[in-house]
Amino acid sequence: MAEIKKHWYKEMSVYQIWTRSFCDSNGDGIGDLPGVYSKLDYIKSLGVDGIWFSPIFPTPNADYGYDVSDYKNINPEFGTLDDFKMILEGAHERGMRVFMDLVVNHTSDEHEWFKEGAKDVNSPYHDYYFWRKGRKNGKKPPNNWLSVFEGGAWEYNKDIDEYYLHVFAKKQPDLNMDNPKVREEVKSIIRFWLDMGVDGFREDVITFISKDEGLPNGFPLPIATGVEHYKHGPHLEEYLDEFRAVQEEYDCFVVGEGPQTTLKDAVNFCSEGPGKKLDMLISFDHMNADCFAVDWIKTPFNLRKLKKTFDKWQTAMYGRGWNCLYIENHDHARIIDRYGDLNYRVESGKMLATMYTMQCGTPFIYQGQEIGMTNIEINNINDYKDVMTFNNYRLFKNILHYSEEKFLKLSSQVNRENARTPVQWNSEKNAGFTTADKAWFNINPNYTDINVEAAEKDENSLLNYYRKLIKFRKENEVCIYGDFKQHYKFSKDLFVYERNYEGKRMLVVCSFSAKPVHFKAPEGFELSKGKVAVSNYEVTDTSLNNFMTRPYEARAYLFD
Ligand code: GLC
Ligand code: CA
Repeated sequence: MAEIKKHWYKEMSVYQIWTRSFCDSNGDGIGDLPGVYSKLDYIKSLGVDGIWFSPIFPTPNADYGYDVSDYKNINPEFGTLDDFKMILEGAHERGMRVFMDLVVNHTSDEHEWFKEGAKDVNSPYHDYYFWRKGRKNGKKPPNNWLSVFEGGAWEYNKDIDEYYLHVFAKKQPDLNMDNPKVREEVKSIIRFWLDMGVDGFREDVITFISKDEGLPNGFPLPIATGVEHYKHGPHLEEYLDEFRAVQEEYDCFVVGEGPQTTLKDAVNFCSEGPGKKLDMLISFDHMNADCFAVDWIKTPFNLRKLKKTFDKWQTAMYGRGWNCLYIENHDHARIIDRYGDLNYRVESGKMLATMYTMQCGTPFIYQGQEIGMTNIEINNINDYKDVMTFNNYRLFKNILHYSEEKFLKLSSQVNRENARTPVQWNSEKNAGFTTADKAWFNINPNYTDINVEAAEKDENSLLNYYRKLIKFRKENEVCIYGDFKQHYKFSKDLFVYERNYEGKRMLVVCSFSAKPVHFKAPEGFELSKGKVAVSNYEVTDTSLNNFMTRPYEARAYLFD
């Protein structure tokens, strides 16, 4: 059996905060760092060992922080560097680490580097970005690339008669990582936060940082034309090594976001030993079980598709790299709406929680996920906030002739803004998120039922179940370091797997159905000899080796 090296990042669970919607301390309707500080005990009470902050740096909010205008400071809407240092200290005192988002594929167009380079082609900052002359006497952009967020990937600047590249929004110009000065800047940002005491990074679209030489035309697609020329560019690995060398001077953890990264590359990036580039990778494969390639192309939920991707990643990574386990973050609609069942919100929420946290890898929990927050219905396009929504509206209207109504219906199921509604703390005004008249973004009206305070009072809440799972995982090495073997691969209703570590065995049974499904213990298992360690229903039939599942039932059995 493959040998597994132990490490703190493998044993931890992490809570992700998207600050703007977490907790508002000063009544301006926007979540902020003192708000986070006031909730540190709550976060700790989940049993997590770390917090990942989505970007909290100064930003004009073209992509809510993923457009950074100053890497070494704090967004004034959120507070000050001193507020951040208080959190860092408070988190460390409570035994939690703090991870920052490192967004260096692009900056904001309001970053000083960009402003300087846009003024003057002779400025050293000009070559920090991809500035090019247009084709056809400057009338056409330098190539046919399309951005992910806003039509063409090139924006014209008439003062210098050149175009700049932006793979995401117009206000997110791509950094030219081939310029050694830019890489020095990145390293200096890494050092700045690590020297302050930060414990690691989540690296935003880090696999996009190297572009093919000459920026050749791409294969035409409705969005992101050209992606094949930067999704794993020629110098990616070299640059990752360069950043890693700095990170290794510290006791630092790094998870990279890798849209479209293949499993083979992920294994290569994360494999232990010399040449290791990342501790783990945020993959998107398992987020496609109810859609095709992107969240917006909806298909019916397909459990076998989900199981297949988990099986592939779990088996290939075991003994080599390490998996990043997540089912929600700020880029996806809420998971109970997607893979669970709103008629069984708590039961299916618990089943999904069991299903992913009991696998091999480091579990990440996104704010609100722990109380089972759900998608929001928004009836007016103007109530949305995100550049991606507006771009998709344009595309669905123009290409697929969607009406506003039809678009809004789809959007409420798939939009990433579903994850960005304010956290529901209690049943009071504005869900206890803010004392302002109005929060910066719509609050889900179901806050009167779904909120932290109500979940705290209910022993059987999803929140308390998450606490149990996290604690159980932490106290049982088989849960952390065990291997992964799937059973009943072809079942359309059940996800069943076992984990093994040093003589201990765990069997996880999850039903994805509201209907009763017959479950029989796989060969070699005698359920009566095991202990039901976690389950979302009371289990009394302990003498039998088979049972009929209750709606979305989940059980984890432990065997000595
Ligand atoms: C990542 C972020 C997403 C952002 C994009 C561009 O995918 O998670 O929120 O919009 O990168 O920075
Ligand atoms: Ca505020």
